[in-house]
Amino acid sequence: MTGASSGIGEAIVTALLEQGFIVYAGARRVERMSHLADKGARVLALDITDADSIAAVLTRIERDGVELDGLVNNAGYGSYGVLEEVPIEEARRQFEVNVFGLMALTREVLPGMRRRRRGRIVNIGSMAGRIWFPVGGWYHATKYALEALSDALRVETRPFGLYVSLIQPGVIRSEWAAIARKPLCENPPEAPYARIKRGMAEILADHSRAGTPEMIAEAVVHALTASRPRRRYARPRDARILIFLHWLLPTWAWERGVRWLLARYARRASDDNGGGASVDGDEAGPDSGPENSNESGNKSDGEKRGEAES
Ligand SMILES: NC(=O)c1ccc[n+]([C@@H]2O[C@H](COP(=O)([O-])OP(=O)(O)OC[C@H]3O[C@@H](n4cnc5c(N)ncnc54)[C@H](OP(=O)(O)O)[C@@H]3O)[C@@H](O)[C@H]2O)c1
Repeated sequence: MTGASSGIGEAIVTALLEQGFIVYAGARRVERMSHLADKGARVLALDITDADSIAAVLTRIERDGVELDGLVNNAGYGSYGVLEEVPIEEARRQFEVNVFGLMALTREVLPGMRRRRRGRIVNIGSMAGRIWFPVGGWYHATKYALEALSDALRVETRPFGLYVSLIQPGVIRSEWAAIARKPLCENPPEAPYARIKRGMAEILADHSRAGTPEMIAEAVVHALTASRPRRRYARPRDARILIFLHWLLPTWAWERGVRWLLARYARRASDDNGGGASVDGDEAGPDSGPENSNESGNKSDGEKRGEAES
């Protein structure tokens, strides 16, 4: 289990322990997993972007005489920003964790599972691998990549008795959103793209319809234990609806919806800032345009909250 130190990972470890599994829980912040150790998890320092760290974890598991029946690839993060502004190094880092690190660990685990003809890989993707929004371009790119990799891996490994499932969480309460929106909160109001970034920062701060990590944990337990695990699990219901809508709608219609939503949230942020304060003229929605720019520069409550959380 990777990314066990918070959010979805923490909930999955707890659910698996309740099911009676032996669970190796890995993350970089080992101190954040002491309560999981108290519940019986075998806690390990793991950075999936570091080959030595992966090797050390697998050596420890081997030394314990344990054969892995399942691997849950959960570690991941997003760092939002418009494509012109996100440094390429940051984009690479997201791919290093969400794609290359995930596959590096998976490659090491596969030979044993294949020899034993038993094993399940559960990848925590995202609805962001099936739908897109601007300002999250690089994160979406990593999760779209994981969709393709999971499908290819499933077909390649099925003849050896292995199963691969992909979980597609929607909005879930965890540390993810605060990390994702942090770069957006460092946005000076006069900067280019201010409006679209403000809209996205507000969307990311809105957890009014968010699901719980436990909903995702339930899907993971099913993927690891069911006689016929599903290829995909989208949770909660909103994630299924959005994936369906994206599939159904022509690109122009999806785009119009996205622009409308961003404009609405950007306006809400401006209202929070003292009412009527407008954002600059970069276009975010069909109803946007060069507007009066009398911004106070104050941050919205949501933005302040995000900074505090970060
Ligand atoms: N929350 C959502 O709305 C949402 C929606 C869709 C998909 N997801 C996906 O769900 C997964 C879990 O996210 P979450 O919501 O639980 O966020 P979270 O609370 O921020 O947890 C992310 C976990 O990933 C770990 N991690 C990050 N970089 C790592 C690295 N290099 N090596 C090992 N572990 C690393 C973190 O641990 P350390 O920092 O201690 O290493 C942490 O335990 C991610 O893949 C995320 O993309 C989340």
